[in-house]
Amino acid sequence: MPDIESLLEEKRVFKPPRDFARAANWKRKQVAELRRLGQKPERLWAKLAREQIAWFSPWKKVLDWKPPFAKWFVGAKTNVSYNCLDRHIQGWRRNKAAILWEGEPGDTRTITYAELHREVCRFANVLKGLGVKRGDRVAIYMPMLPELAIAMLACTRIGAPHSIVFGGFSAEALRDRIQDAGARVVVTSDGGHRRGAPFPIKQTVDQACAEAPGVEKVVVVRRTGQPVEMKPGRDLWWHEEMKQASAKCPPAKLDSEHPLFILYTSGTTGRPKGILHSTGGYLTHVTATARAVFDLRDEDIYWCTADIGWITGHSYVIYGLLSNGATTLMFEGAPTTPGPDRFWDIIERWGVTIFYTAPTAIRTFIRLGDEHPKKHDLSSLRLLGTVGEPINPEAWMWYHRVIGGGRCPIVDTWWQTETGGIMIAPLPGATDTKPGSATLPFPGVHAAILDEQGEPVSPPHGGFLAITAPWPGMLRGIWGDRKRFVETYWSKWRNTYFPGDGAHRDRRGYFWIMGRIDDVMNVSGHRIGTMEVESAIVAHADVAEAAVVGRPDEITGTAIVAFVTPRSHVAGGEALQRGIRAQVAKQIGAIAKPAEIRFTEALPKTRSGKIMRRLLRDIAAGGAPAGDTSTLEDFSVLAKLRESEED
Ligand code: PRX
Repeated sequence: MPDIESLLEEKRVFKPPRDFARAANWKRKQVAELRRLGQKPERLWAKLAREQIAWFSPWKKVLDWKPPFAKWFVGAKTNVSYNCLDRHIQGWRRNKAAILWEGEPGDTRTITYAELHREVCRFANVLKGLGVKRGDRVAIYMPMLPELAIAMLACTRIGAPHSIVFGGFSAEALRDRIQDAGARVVVTSDGGHRRGAPFPIKQTVDQACAEAPGVEKVVVVRRTGQPVEMKPGRDLWWHEEMKQASAKCPPAKLDSEHPLFILYTSGTTGRPKGILHSTGGYLTHVTATARAVFDLRDEDIYWCTADIGWITGHSYVIYGLLSNGATTLMFEGAPTTPGPDRFWDIIERWGVTIFYTAPTAIRTFIRLGDEHPKKHDLSSLRLLGTVGEPINPEAWMWYHRVIGGGRCPIVDTWWQTETGGIMIAPLPGATDTKPGSATLPFPGVHAAILDEQGEPVSPPHGGFLAITAPWPGMLRGIWGDRKRFVETYWSKWRNTYFPGDGAHRDRRGYFWIMGRIDDVMNVSGHRIGTMEVESAIVAHADVAEAAVVGRPDEITGTAIVAFVTPRSHVAGGEALQRGIRAQVAKQIGAIAKPAEIRFTEALPKTRSGKIMRRLLRDIAAGGAPAGDTSTLEDFSVLAKLRESEED
């Protein structure tokens, strides 16, 4: 494993500030006890589930583990929306802000727990009225509007698993996800605001539904007021349906293992995987980790900048926060609109105390200059977090110094769509942090670094990150594809989960995540499969063959580079580059457009015909080709050299 051996040794250590440690939800001594208890994960999670979750009826067994299939809190009944709403409105939190919302144009809304409860009940009744029953899938494709939170909570209230599709995905990507999940209802909006202009959403849904015959109803939130076509019999306005709906809707008493949601994520093949999460275990995991890792308090104003269309938004904008009775801020727009200080302006105006964002965003802000955060009073902040990709120590230090004013602990949280919740992260009142390390597994999470054979590797050598015991938020499967679930995650080693990341541990036992070791790229903290982009590119009529690799990028972490062989008689030039980018945007979405497209007469291949990706990665990392990009590059000589090297 020479590739992921790390020579980096970070010496800087930051102890939890004394005041922070003294007041923290989880103090050092208590954490030590919980870690001891966590040696038997079932004991630890049962304790947290009992203390932090409201159950309608208790479990008969904490864990039923028939690898790789786990059931948590077997036989227990609960409801996610009950935990996020009803239990809070029975007490003083009734009139506490649940959601603070800011639209990109600057309009705002404050929604209390009581109000959110009423709206969720109403929309649950709307869904019921449309014939949605327990177990039916509902697709949601919407910008960051409060109605998105209302719709997802309404689904959980009646036991209809939601499938939220990030608003940046194209019509074709949306169509595939609707079809794969078999959704009969789609919830959307006319449009949204992004980078200073309204953009259409409903139109994309119309295109997707034209080829998704299973969709019976589309509910449309009016956001921008832009003209939309409403298909009679299929399309309904949210506000009209809500007017007639009752605000009373008892929560369904759902089995702990009832499916909660499906969320699609990229893998190593061309087809995204529908990651399936279930009710009781997921809720326990996100509730307990949010409380401990973010040290949540009732007075906090918490802001996670992720879109709800990704797992971070599911777990740590909505479920983990509302379940704790916290106040969560949602922002509709882009970080640099109308100016490069929008985020800092939001923090100052709302008095944000906990801020959770991605390293890509931090690197972007570093480039924009310190003068923008310095214009604002950020003294309300008391804790910072990062997620989605490895953070380089220098970005960590900048975040600590410029945003945190040197006083806020930073929690670098490692986890995945599949893990449901945070797996490796500091507990801010108890764990010393080192810039660039996610530190230690959460109590009850068992992580290790293994080699190909499943043998533990010891410092300073790197290896594969592995999770060696089941945890409550773990994925329960891939929607409709049991075989792929077993093969992707559970076939590398016996009874051990394979996350697909390289990592190493230092002598203190701290984990340093090095990034993906499979053919999945992490672009701005978003997972994009190389195969997905390749299959979009080869769908272009003028393309014969394509290979996609990632190359390191200072801002986005990874940039997508495509090596393309045009069909004979077709010239590779700017027009074709434009066409290829448009094809990728159409098939997947703008987020997957290659940063660089290089034309080649032939792709370097081994004698057995396998594309030599390692060679292409090296070439891509070497920088853009000098001069005219329209000439065809010839990698065959290099490939031959490499082949003889490898022989
Ligand atoms: O490579 C790891 C990286 O993001 C991947 C998971 O992506 P996704 O399912 O989209 O979820 C992102 C948000 C949870 C992981 O396999 N990753 C996530 N967090 C970190 C990270 N890499 C390093 N450090 C992190 N804190």
